[in-house]
Amino acid sequence: MVPKGKAHLHDYVVVDNEGVAEGVQRLVMRAPALAAELMGGQFVNVAVPGDPSHLLRIPLAFSAADAAAGTVELEFAVVGEGTRRLAAMAPDQGATVVGPCGNPWRVGEGQGRSVLVCGGIGVTPIVACARMLVAAGVVFDVVVGAGTAAKLWGTDELEALGAGRVVVTTDDGTAGRKGFTTDALADLLASGSYGMVYTCGPEVMMRGVARLCAEAGVACQVSMERMMTCGFGACNTCNVPAAKGGYLSVCMDGPVFDAEEVAW
Ligand SMILES: Cc1cc2nc3c(=O)[nH]c(=O)nc-3n(C[C@H](O)[C@H](O)[C@H](O)COP(=O)(O)OP(=O)(O)OC[C@H]3O[C@@H](n4cnc5c(N)ncnc54)[C@H](O)[C@@H]3O)c2cc1C
Ligand code: FES
Repeated sequence: MVPKGKAHLHDYVVVDNEGVAEGVQRLVMRAPALAAELMGGQFVNVAVPGDPSHLLRIPLAFSAADAAAGTVELEFAVVGEGTRRLAAMAPDQGATVVGPCGNPWRVGEGQGRSVLVCGGIGVTPIVACARMLVAAGVVFDVVVGAGTAAKLWGTDELEALGAGRVVVTTDDGTAGRKGFTTDALADLLASGSYGMVYTCGPEVMMRGVARLCAEAGVACQVSMERMMTCGFGACNTCNVPAAKGGYLSVCMDGPVFDAEEVAW
């Protein structure tokens, strides 16, 4: 495992940059040393060339790190100035990226069947989690949610990785089951025996997933997202309240936590 606090600076060059769903961009960067070190659930802090008044790096999860090809794949929602400029970068343009940041998903030896629950842009680190489960020989089912069909992505990737059941939910019913990912998870937990649930998505969704898992007695890991200023444990911008009191930092203690560590 790469110990936390071992992030360092890498150069990157854009290989490919294209839309995959409404408002969602996939950027493939070449950064060979980073690609060799990243573990699913960790994140990178990307610099985007351009407006010098926009100095902060953008923290982003990744869905694939290919050590042989030297590439890292990021999917991100275009929500503001930084992600808009990142989405506009052309192949062969580049800058710097800091990583690997934070701690990865944990996969136990002999871990039982697992469920991956993701919503919106939370699909990105869940695809990386699926790759870890495949490598460890753990079978898994998936619940993928989006507001509407046009914003849905990741089901092809997760099916190709060998997910057993792939349940799609949309808030408006334009694809899959109408409703929330938590409705589908409740049905899965009632019908099967699971050893672990992994989740990433809107906080309200993860809170619901954590509650269902606690009620069912199934262990759960969550990947938290917070605004980040420094990205290395110095500013407290990214703190989340801890169940035991005090705070945990998403950038250094997370972004992956056991659900029961967090005061929801
Ligand atoms: C560990 C981690 C992993 C992340 N992984 C991904 C990912 O894989 N894909 C992805 O699309 N996004 C991810 N994010 C969120 C991403 O960093 C923000 O969307 C991005 O920084 C916005 O930058 P911007 O300059 O485009 O927007 P800004 O102009 O800075 O902000 C636009 C809007 O987004 C909100 N926002 C900005 N940063 C965050 C944040 N960190 N959390 C919640 N809201 C925010 C702002 O409040 C504002 O409303 C991750 C964040 C963290 C902390
Ligand atoms: S972003 Fe500064 S402490 Fe986490």
